[in-house]
Amino acid sequence: MAEVIVVEHEQAAGELVAESIRALIEAKRDAVLGLATGSTPLTVYQALGRSLSARPLDVGMVRGFSLDEYVGLPAGHPESYRAVIDREVVAPLGLTPSNIRVPSNDLAALPAAGTEYEQAIIDAGGVDLQLLGIGRTGHLGFNEPGSSFASLTRVKTLTPQTRADNARFFASPDEVPIHCITQGIGTILRARHLVLLAFGAGKAAALAAAVEGPVTSSQPGSAIQLHPHVTVVVDEAAAGLLANLDYFRYAWANKPAWQGI
Ligand code: F6R
Repeated sequence: MAEVIVVEHEQAAGELVAESIRALIEAKRDAVLGLATGSTPLTVYQALGRSLSARPLDVGMVRGFSLDEYVGLPAGHPESYRAVIDREVVAPLGLTPSNIRVPSNDLAALPAAGTEYEQAIIDAGGVDLQLLGIGRTGHLGFNEPGSSFASLTRVKTLTPQTRADNARFFASPDEVPIHCITQGIGTILRARHLVLLAFGAGKAAALAAAVEGPVTSSQPGSAIQLHPHVTVVVDEAAAGLLANLDYFRYAWANKPAWQGI
């Protein structure tokens, strides 16, 4: 079973995970981070920013790979994940822009973009720590239900549910792209440490299916059960449907201090 840590609020989750990322960078200056977008990881990036201001650390060699990108937005659109990663992660943390990659959504380059992205991750030595949110459909990255657990970076179609959920970032629901390019479940499973965050009651069903449900491509999140090192950090509301909640709390309360997450 994945390790599940229940925290009081998103800020506490952000601080816990940011400290783990900081420790990783201290141990490996050119650490490779797997970056998620959306609302969920924002407290992690903000807490890491505060930590780096309070106790400066050279992050110039850190490398990063974003999980996914929309296809079909005009270049430079503020909600393209390239723009979001630059605004929320690269600039505030002072990362080196050329070290941080987002899958290309350039239409002419799209047929080869997945293969190139996979090769770039391999050339970087693989992802050390992959941040993940989870969609209400159960998606990881933009791997909607039915995505193969062996899948690699490729173009996918977003479900109407995911488009509706992400409409809050756009002026109108119709503006949310139908297509995306996303790391596959197979890509995500190659990362050395998966850190999945979820907040709010709206994520409880998808989270319980991911952590405790049957392993099935109908619930892409359940692929985490195939990974040897997964840390799930959730608030009380997102943890609300976990059957083994008492055990998760007991394991965390009794975790040896030397172990880390
Ligand atoms: C984002 C991503 C998605 C989101 C998920 C949850 O890069 O790959 O899987 O993590 O859609 O989105 P939020 O965090 O906005 O609820």
